[in-house]
Amino acid sequence: MITVFGSINVDLVTRVDAHPRPGETIAGSDYRLIPGGKGANQALAAARAGASVRLIGAVGTDAFAAVALSELGPGGVDLAGVARRETPTGLALIVVDATGENTIVVAAGANRSVVAADAGAVTFGKGDTLLLQLEVPYAEGSKLALRARAAGSRVILSVAPFRPLSVEAAAPASILIMNEHEAAGLAGHVGLTAGSAAENAVGLAKIFGSTVIVTLGAEGAIAAEGGATLGTEGVIAAEAGAVRRVPALAVTPVDTTGAGDTFAGVLAARLDAGVTLGEAMAYAAAAGSLSTTREGAQPSFPMRAEIDAALAAAGDRRPTGGRRA
Ligand code: RIB
Repeated sequence: MITVFGSINVDLVTRVDAHPRPGETIAGSDYRLIPGGKGANQALAAARAGASVRLIGAVGTDAFAAVALSELGPGGVDLAGVARRETPTGLALIVVDATGENTIVVAAGANRSVVAADAGAVTFGKGDTLLLQLEVPYAEGSKLALRARAAGSRVILSVAPFRPLSVEAAAPASILIMNEHEAAGLAGHVGLTAGSAAENAVGLAKIFGSTVIVTLGAEGAIAAEGGATLGTEGVIAAEAGAVRRVPALAVTPVDTTGAGDTFAGVLAARLDAGVTLGEAMAYAAAAGSLSTTREGAQPSFPMRAEIDAALAAAGDRRPTGGRRA
């Protein structure tokens, strides 16, 4: 069982040829309202990958609430833990350029009001998963994280949007997921010398005492566990205890919005199902790639059968480096 404690948004999306400079006004495409939010996205991605998922979060009592929740119920996510608050539903203003890259500004709205008590009588068991991001108050999420860890559950923290977390604050998380920019930011924050994504992953895994996964877009993803090392000259080595790498699928992206959320949700789904870290990462990287081939966040998330088919078509995608979890 996966519990996601996180944000629920409506994404107001427009497309442009190129992002505007500060002070510039440019024409965009007609806008679309699409359900999003990092918590909701990760919950739906996990459910589509076959997991049982409940979402703890909040929406407003406005018309946007129905849009924000429109994919989640039909997608199989348990919404009993979603509160209604007398404040606007969270809204993300998203601009996507011709290469599929986006800029996102989030007006938090009801997400700001989410508290651990919204989880009510939710219980955690050994082998369950709690999935957190940083778009709702982390001080509240970490209360649940402590409960989950005490019960023997895994706690996965997606370090997005980036916040310079202390080692103490991140301690309840057993797995940290971040992109390479977030990894560089966190590495700088804890005093590591600027390095490659793999060097940052190794350094962060040692300092935080957790598994650190860094997503690399078209280059796939890498993971370092506490004792992971790099081979000579920073090369990822195929030996026990080394950093492991999984590839992305070769795709032409049209919109990268939600790709990181797809990775996090699908990774959680596969770990919750009991597969190894390397297998879960390979699956999650493929799902993230597929999500970039369609527009929007939630409408782009693949179903399990599509991920299976894409992996089969891509051939042998076993991870390189590292031991099996
Ligand atoms: O990660 C993508 C998400 O970030 C969007 O759906 C948007 O709502 C913001 O939360």
